[in-house]
Amino acid sequence: MEEYKKRVFSGIQPTGGFTLGNYLGALRQWDTLQNEYDCIYSVVDLHSLTVRQDPATLRRQIRESAAMLLACGVDPDRSILFIQGDVHQHAELSWLLSCYTQFGELSRMTQFKDKSSKHPENVNGGLFTYPVLMAADILLYQTNLVPIGADQKQHLELARNIAIRFNGIYGDVFTVPEGFFPKVAARVMSLQDPTSKMSKSDENQNAKVMLTDDGDAIIRKFRRAVTDSGNEVRAAEDKPGVTNLMSIYSGVTGRSFDEIEREFDGKGYGEFKSAVGEAVRDALAPIQERYKENLADKDMLNDVLKTGAERASILAARTLRKVRRKIGLD
Ligand code: TRP
Repeated sequence: MEEYKKRVFSGIQPTGGFTLGNYLGALRQWDTLQNEYDCIYSVVDLHSLTVRQDPATLRRQIRESAAMLLACGVDPDRSILFIQGDVHQHAELSWLLSCYTQFGELSRMTQFKDKSSKHPENVNGGLFTYPVLMAADILLYQTNLVPIGADQKQHLELARNIAIRFNGIYGDVFTVPEGFFPKVAARVMSLQDPTSKMSKSDENQNAKVMLTDDGDAIIRKFRRAVTDSGNEVRAAEDKPGVTNLMSIYSGVTGRSFDEIEREFDGKGYGEFKSAVGEAVRDALAPIQERYKENLADKDMLNDVLKTGAERASILAARTLRKVRRKIGLD
């Protein structure tokens, strides 16, 4: 009997670089998921267009993102890695699915509400239909599992509802996907305001660690990280700064909170912050090394992305053919 592996799909936007939060919260799992699942990973460039992008910068960031995903362990021999915009079926299915999605449903998306109130000068149609494109990404590949952060849960729920609705009208066309929230996924908070998530768009450089930051910058940012009152290295609700640093330290060293508390027993915040910075620097060094090599190897990168798009579009075309036939377009 042929072995049946569940299919995983996930996507990440190429703009603004990737943070330590992206790595510990998502990209690290993208690597380990490949051991068990049939994985498809995409640089979702079309999603980035809801915000105006400079063309040259966008073009560069798309390649940098692919190079970084490979450096983080995405393996094109085992998985499909591709650029969303290279596979035209995404935009096509997105239009079709938008006709099966209600205005009211999209109006209730909290991300739409947040983003449109934060950027009232550019509330474009793409921002509104963003979750439909995301549903198309997922449903095109008959995806079983979608690793996502909590902030994308509502979008996944919508994708499920669209799939269920479509299947209800036309019969089984789409696999109904499930969210996948890895057990160990760390939620990395801002180093300057540990009550909010580390964000790539934070204007304060000291609040975030980018995967491309050099070693000295990493150490410096952790030395400046906000801590809490007291001086004990201990995880607690009233110590969000220290707890965040502990969870980062745990994420990169694999040590438990108990072990970390013992390791820094009787030592102050200063020593702890230096240790976290060094551990992060050391964990990122080999990734940064591979990233530079990948970016420099243009032929390799072109080849990986071309093959990825070809393999993705074979699968996507199969689903789209079925959808077109069911609707009556073919
Ligand atoms: N919206 C997702 C995010 O911002 C990115 C994304 C686009 C995605 N398409 C997807 C994630 C499909 C998972 C599956 O994080």
